[in-house]
Amino acid sequence: MLKIGRGAEAPPFMVMDVIAAANANQAALPVGHPHVIRMEVGQPSTGAPAGARDAAAAALRGGDALGYTEAFGRSSLRARLARHYADWYGLDLAPARIAVTMGASGAFPLAFLAAFDRGDRVALAAPFYPPYVNILTALGLEPVILETGPADRFQPTPAMLAALDPPPAGLIVASPCNPAGTMLAPAELRALAEWCDANGVRLISDEIYHGLHYARPIATAAAYSDSAIVINSFSKYFSMTGWRVGWMVLPADLCRPVECLAQNMFISAPHIAQIAAEAAFDCTPELQANVARYRRSREHLLATLPAAGFPDIAAADGAFYLYADVTARTNDAQVFCARMLAETGVAASPGLDFDRTRGNRFVRFSYCGPEADMQDAAARLTRWT
Ligand SMILES: Cc1ncc(COP(=O)(O)O)c(C=O)c1O
Repeated sequence: MLKIGRGAEAPPFMVMDVIAAANANQAALPVGHPHVIRMEVGQPSTGAPAGARDAAAAALRGGDALGYTEAFGRSSLRARLARHYADWYGLDLAPARIAVTMGASGAFPLAFLAAFDRGDRVALAAPFYPPYVNILTALGLEPVILETGPADRFQPTPAMLAALDPPPAGLIVASPCNPAGTMLAPAELRALAEWCDANGVRLISDEIYHGLHYARPIATAAAYSDSAIVINSFSKYFSMTGWRVGWMVLPADLCRPVECLAQNMFISAPHIAQIAAEAAFDCTPELQANVARYRRSREHLLATLPAAGFPDIAAADGAFYLYADVTARTNDAQVFCARMLAETGVAASPGLDFDRTRGNRFVRFSYCGPEADMQDAAARLTRWT
């Protein structure tokens, strides 16, 4: 019998299974029947902004071979990203600290491999974005789960970290986070960053939902710590999921190690996608129109879902998720979501993917779909109560 490696034990990303069920449900519907409303997916329905698509089209028509770029990406994109930190956060960052990656997903293994050793403990709050735990585990690192709740906005605190024995080697935070949609206040992020620096803990801050925040200000960990790793992407605010471009802000000590890893693992992010991503910075009105749509859908759902039997929703600070505690209605969110899909045609994600101990009491609704669909979903769920 041949050996099978640790990586082969990575569990599925269950949301993908819910997507498959929603697809099957849609395909089985008779013609003219109301369509399935997709609130299980965490990707904007809008596609890349027009300016990004135009830049990609022009690059395709041009003579450039669009071969590999340097491992850390096109220098013009890195410079533009540095400017983005000045524009959004008032931060002066050297482009040399910015690495363009294959989405945020491509940044995770680079960050984890560069920062940690086999067996190292890495803390993170539950509920969490499932690939954090699955990638850590596949790499032989040990996720240490911090059980958070509404009182701490589903975010970790320095006190939770201080209580860990032995202390972790790293901490992953996300603000706004997936699935809860909650945020750390800038002072809370600063406190975590300072605690990590004081205790020799490497902070990894997933800032992929920056730009999609409705009630609280954003802050980047790069402002509070020179040793933190910041991860971000063009997938969410920039609406470019399938283009597979993200980036990292690296501490000086990790620039060369991550570059070497990136050279070996990915060579470079897709060249044409990097060109499109750079152009996306000039598409602010279109991107802000997307944010305005999310904001309206969020407000409508927050106003209607409580009376539709979802009164207990996590503070919806950002991203495009509502994380609802459905304890009063079920103790099996998977069965609940399957029934909701069958009876209302609204697909949502059961919480088990995000929290292996308490997730069966939670459902995640994503509101990045078309605005009319979000209104229809609220109406269908209200009738279903
Ligand atoms: C919190 C979080 N981080 C990272 C990712 C992965 O993003 P990317 O498309 O850039 O790989 C996602 C995708 O949903 C996410 O929700």
